[in-house]
Amino acid sequence: MLSCLTHFECTRTGAKYPRGALLTLSDAGAPLFARYDLERAAATLSRASLRGRRADMWRYAEVLPDWAGAAPLSLGEGWTPLAEVERLRDALRCPHLFIKDESSNPTGSFKARGLSCAVNGALARRATAFAVPTAGNAGGALAAFAAAAGVPAHVFMPADTPAAFALECRAFGATVELIDGLIDECGRQVAARAPKAGWHNVSTLKEPFRVEGKKTMGYEVAEQLAFELPDVIVYPTGGGTGLIGMWKAFDEMEELGWIGSRRPRMVSVQAAGCAPIVQAFADGADAAAPWPDAHTVASGLRVPSAVGDFLMLRALRDSGGHALAVEDDAMLAAGRELARLTGIFPAPEGGAALAALYRLLDEGLVDRDERIVLFNTGSGYKYADAYLR
Ligand SMILES: Cc1ncc(COP(=O)(O)O)c(C=O)c1O
Repeated sequence: MLSCLTHFECTRTGAKYPRGALLTLSDAGAPLFARYDLERAAATLSRASLRGRRADMWRYAEVLPDWAGAAPLSLGEGWTPLAEVERLRDALRCPHLFIKDESSNPTGSFKARGLSCAVNGALARRATAFAVPTAGNAGGALAAFAAAAGVPAHVFMPADTPAAFALECRAFGATVELIDGLIDECGRQVAARAPKAGWHNVSTLKEPFRVEGKKTMGYEVAEQLAFELPDVIVYPTGGGTGLIGMWKAFDEMEELGWIGSRRPRMVSVQAAGCAPIVQAFADGADAAAPWPDAHTVASGLRVPSAVGDFLMLRALRDSGGHALAVEDDAMLAAGRELARLTGIFPAPEGGAALAALYRLLDEGLVDRDERIVLFNTGSGYKYADAYLR
């Protein structure tokens, strides 16, 4: 087995949990982090060893969960392009701008990374059925991996989620429950039903492996930039797994001896209609208050309260970063501009990242000469309803 996973650790108390357990939250109700024997990992996983490895996120197998069969169940997730976007660079006068384009993942979003790890890790720990509350993309990704594994998936999504998301889940054979409420209400229903029904709950950060999949974005950005991390990462944030995962990846890579202690400034982008992390960041708070009446066309950003809020806020502050919110009209306009200048059709969440970059440049929070990585977290194709506005 390649995985050097040793145990799990509570992100609040540091309590340890055994490697073989099928876990959700810690006893303190906080997210768990997977921990690895990085010294053992470094024996086979070196920067040079990556050349010639498989062209998906499982190239980092030593620092990912173990799996059940001979090879991880995979649809080719990860190892997405770090696009050089020449015309967008010229338009913005940012010569060192890159777009990490997650739309090319299976099911069209970065959610495939997290759900791949969650399903593989849980199947290795004898899970037999899965459930997830979702803003859309996570449901599609779970449904796809469950289809590939031949196990049942139960997807709970707000009834007003764009139609393509439910359609996709059902095509993969998942059971879809449309809920009158937001993702937090979906989460409550999954939590209430999962134990009795025998479903493994793979809600964001409420099991330890989705964040492991998301952290591979940090490994890839480093590898694709020859291990010189960028100055700034601009990331559209809902539950925050990607931000938290990349931050974890940087620490692991430092311990592996791949990078030094310098870190990018992490910038969290949220929607003006749902910005709990932006508010908490501005208030200097360690945790975020639930956002009332959350609304935005970027369904992935419609997360009124996040279990990993304290981890996100810590990463933003430790990195010297920032948090800002953009209006829906601005994110859709920026999404169209991004499409027109790059050939990448982004999810509104990706548009939000570009809309945020305009502001960061205007306000002098980012210099045009800096090395900037902007995340397009998903494909625009499932968001026709939003772009038709
Ligand atoms: C396209 C897209 N972008 C961003 C997000 C937010 O992701 P995270 O949980 O990593 O903050 C989501 C979540 O649903 C999403 O679907």
